[in-house]
Amino acid sequence: MNIHEVMAHKAEQHKLTMMTCYDFSMARIINQSDVDMLLVGDSAAMVMHGHNSTLPISVEVMALHVAAVARGAPDKFIVGDLPFLSYRKSLSENMYAVEQLMQAGAHAVKLEGIVGNEALIQHIVDSGVPVMGHLGLTPQSVNALGGFKVQARNQAEQDKLKKDSLLAQQCGCFSLVLECVPQQIAADITALLEIPTIGIGAGVHVDGQVLVLQDMLGMSGAFKPKFLRQYLDGEQLILQAMNAYAADVKSQQFPSTEESYQ
Ligand code: KIV
Repeated sequence: MNIHEVMAHKAEQHKLTMMTCYDFSMARIINQSDVDMLLVGDSAAMVMHGHNSTLPISVEVMALHVAAVARGAPDKFIVGDLPFLSYRKSLSENMYAVEQLMQAGAHAVKLEGIVGNEALIQHIVDSGVPVMGHLGLTPQSVNALGGFKVQARNQAEQDKLKKDSLLAQQCGCFSLVLECVPQQIAADITALLEIPTIGIGAGVHVDGQVLVLQDMLGMSGAFKPKFLRQYLDGEQLILQAMNAYAADVKSQQFPSTEESYQ
């Protein structure tokens, strides 16, 4: 898949599937799947590094994750997430962040928020780098938003979300993530835009869906927001495998003669 195919999906009314991914071994598996796109999200800060927000991850660490995913998933369209404040500095520092992710193997970058980023988005797009927008719950602004909560609950916020979504398209974004917003406003925006919308906690009437890999695999402990569907009980399966291994070692069932060199 490439940027033109991503955009064509909307015209053809084919749903897009995106999954977050942060490492080589998972990327290698997802590369064999029907999932269309991979997002190396800054959610890596939380699910891979154990932080309680996305703020602590740096461009350099994000670039390492992008490179690992690119090696594992050579057939997938990869979006690299620009981390907290990495695109809110001078133009040369902002473009350094873009360069790091693209040279690591991303095919596009994603950034949160549109207002205040208009000129930068246009500059990145004019530099030959596709940009994915991200509105609604923008986790890098968790402190300004007062927590991770559903956004655009009232009319004024919904009007602003619509306006900002149109602005994202005008600035040249090739697609737009809508996170944790009521499904009706996500549907309205999807009908309004020519570029595809990708929802997470935004209902079914969007052009595609994205989930955080560890969450959908059931590996995020008690974290289970309303919008999340778990497709595997990964935590229990891994625990069972660990305990089976520990028991086999303790009872000298592992390694067997066949598993030993003579
Ligand atoms: O970082 C991330 O995983 C994201 C998705 C939740 C859209 O931005």
